[in-house]
Formats: sequence, structure tokens, C-alpha cells
Amino acid sequence: MNYPITLNNGVSMPTVGYGVFQSAPEETAVAVETALKAGYRHIDTSAGYGNEREVGEGIRRSGIDRDDVFIETKVWVSDYGYDETLHAFEKSAAKLGVSQIDLLILHQPMPQHFERTLNAYRALEQLLADGKVRSIGVSNFMPHHLAALRAQTEIIPAVNQVELHPYFTQSAVQRANAEHGILTQAWSPIGGITFYPGWGENRKSVLEDETIGRIAAEHGKTPAQVMLRWHLQQGRSVIPKSTNAQRIAQNIDVFDFALVDDDLNVINALDRGVRGGPDPDAVDPSTWKLEIPEA
Ligand code: A2P
Repeated sequence: MNYPITLNNGVSMPTVGYGVFQSAPEETAVAVETALKAGYRHIDTSAGYGNEREVGEGIRRSGIDRDDVFIETKVWVSDYGYDETLHAFEKSAAKLGVSQIDLLILHQPMPQHFERTLNAYRALEQLLADGKVRSIGVSNFMPHHLAALRAQTEIIPAVNQVELHPYFTQSAVQRANAEHGILTQAWSPIGGITFYPGWGENRKSVLEDETIGRIAAEHGKTPAQVMLRWHLQQGRSVIPKSTNAQRIAQNIDVFDFALVDDDLNVINALDRGVRGGPDPDAVDPSTWKLEIPEA
């Protein structure tokens, strides 16, 4: 049910993860437990989401062995810098209640403070060497951020997690990732960012796209399932989020049908080239006033 993909360092990761962005802490433990019982074995969270403790609680409540769950989390920018990021690992691991994290990634590039970003990444390299994390990566890196990182650090990231859905397909980022063996992992894989309240005006939800609706009807599946399949068949990892038990189950029930090439091409052509989330070069995330508490 949970098809794994092998990362560039040989570590195996289930392709369909369960995302908890914007999941309120009080909902998160139940949702994570529900997801694990529905068959997910990969949870994606972040220090910045404020729900790592509840993710750990959900895993423990599920009764599933910790070693059977792939845990991914992110270092927030307020913890960038070599010593700060080493400490960020300790905070996240303690909140999650684990001694080792499967995949630890930088949440954002900080183009305005790139030396701190590099030092944060060097700390991830050290954590990897020490066996405290099994793999390392980045998020929201554009090709020029990846190039700068590559030029000044040793280890190629295993994963680059970026906004990616049919209305924003980021072909340049996908190409740069592929060229260096970095797995593209899609956040908002079913386009939640195209309809989340408070993220912009006059947007159109990709879940209501007519073309995707037609393809879904042809396959007897839902638009969300079609989008997830579109990612998987093009080699990407996905982390759909839902706090609804039925939709949690639906989003991992994507292994019993296949899109044809024509479906994939038609969906690729829906790209509008307009991101829903913040432009990694235009915002200085250190101004967001988010500090990560001690465990
Ligand atoms: P809910 O939690 O009520 O299910 P994304 O992961 O692309 O950002 O999308 C997440 C958003 O999509 C959430 O608002 C979630 O709401 C909704 N959602 C998740 N799964 C489905 C689904 N299978 N069908 C429709 N909406 C979904």
C-alpha cells in the first residue's frame, strides 16, 4: 500500500507521506493515529508547525513500531546557524520523543542570510555523520539556491520539498533536482494552497478544475486521487494533508489505478506558473517572528 522510494543515500522512504501543516495541535495526535491506522508510514511535520509533540504522541498511540514509521521534520529559520541547528535537532527529537529523525530538512532558503543557511546545512551534514538523522534535505530551494548550496557544502540533499500541484509545476526546480539526484517532494500536492483562506484573492481551487474532474470521472476516482497519482507516476513524493478520516484514507488509496500518458500530459499543461505560497527570494522568513520553543 505504501510504495517506497530509495533516496540518493540508499535510505528507503514511503512515497505517500501524511502532512500536518496547519493541523491544530489538539487535532494532530488523533489525525496522525488515524493516518497510521489507514496505512501511512511516513509523517511530515516541521518545528515551525508547532505540532511535533502531538505527532510523536499520535505515533505512540497508534501502537505501530517507531522503526516502521518514517519521520520527516524541518528546521525553522530562527534556528539556522551551525550550533543553533544542532540544537534544533535536539528540540525536535525531544518533542517527537525519538532519538533519531529519518529526514531532517531546512524549511526555507534564507537568501538574505545565506551564510546562516549554509551553516545550518553543515550542521545537518554533521547530524548525518553522527547517525542522529538518516537523511537530510531542503525545502523551497530554487535552482540557484541549490547551486549555491552545492558549491559550498559536501552532501547533496536527498529531498527538496517544494510547492507543486497542477497549477504550479515548477519544471525548472524539478529539472535541477533530477539533475543532481534530489527527490522532488510536493507540498500542497492536491493544491490546498490554491484555496486556503487568507492566502490571496481570486484564486481557483485546483480541486475544482474541470479537466482533472473529467479525468477523475473516467477513472472512477476523485480529483485528489488523480493529482496524487499524477505526482507518483512522475516520480515525486507527496505529503497530502487532511484531518478528515475519510479523506485521509482516500489519499493513500491511489495504488490500484494508473493514468495514461495523455492524462499526465494534459495535467502538466494546466500549469499557470503562479505560486500560491511565498516566493523564497522575495520574503525574508526571519521577519516572520516565529521562534521555536525549547522541548
Ligand atoms: P481536510 O483536512 O478538511 O480534508 P494540500 O495537502 O494539497 O495542501 O491540501 C490540503 C487541503 O485539501 C485541506 O484543506 C484538506 O481539507 C483538503 N483535502 C485533503 N484531502 C482531500 C480530498 N481527498 N478531497 C478534497 N479535499 C481534500
